[in-house]
Amino acid sequence: MKNATWGDHQSAESEGYLSELMAGRLTEHEYGEMVAQHYFAYVALDGVSRALADHPVAGAFVFPELYREPALERDLSTIYGPSWRDRISPSKSTRTLVARIQQVADWPCGYVAHHYTRYLGDLSGGQFIRMELQKIYGYGKGGGVDFYFFDELGSLPRFKNEYRARLDTLGLDLDERERRRMIREVKLAYQLNTEVLTELLHVVRTAA
Ligand code: HEM
Repeated sequence: MKNATWGDHQSAESEGYLSELMAGRLTEHEYGEMVAQHYFAYVALDGVSRALADHPVAGAFVFPELYREPALERDLSTIYGPSWRDRISPSKSTRTLVARIQQVADWPCGYVAHHYTRYLGDLSGGQFIRMELQKIYGYGKGGGVDFYFFDELGSLPRFKNEYRARLDTLGLDLDERERRRMIREVKLAYQLNTEVLTELLHVVRTAA
């Protein structure tokens, strides 16, 4: 999976909004714009996960410890205050991503494709982003970055290995056509997530 989609990862990683964020050039509210878009995406992803918890195939990827909604609610309330719900709305790209996550809820491999792209990313590059946010902006736990903390998982490398083992097991059960279809969905997931960041960059640049 990683080999087939790492080129798509490179495009996501080099997206301009993240570069601005990592360079320390964004305000707290400009960072909050991304947190808000994450919130809508994870309400969808966590919601589909809950619905699929007992599914024989997709259920192997449902880990309540991964759910991000509560952490994102805390982050948004830190950044925007108690009326945060009135201050945020999903962007056009986020609405497209959310629609796709909901569309694949009845296709286990499609769901796993989106799950993998988000959560394994949050557990990998996301941890690097967390350290940079802490270093550059001074945001620590309870300070708007709880999204990046996965304390309930214990050792992240161990969890990631277990997750990859489950992906490999799933891969063995798929025929070539379904495997290709799943890889196409991961590529689409990268693209849709990258478009969310591109739109955020546009918002930030237009405001500047
Ligand atoms: C500053 C931006 C980013 C950096 C520095 C970064 C860095 C990394 C690194 C170093 C890994 C490999 C970790 C490992 O093998 O254990 C990784 C994995 C991953 N990243 Fe990112 N990343 C970034 C943005 C993103 C974005 C925007 C997405 C998608 C929305 C994403 C999705 C993933 C996924 C799914 C993996 C797991 C690949 C695998 O092991 O199968 N990353 N990232």
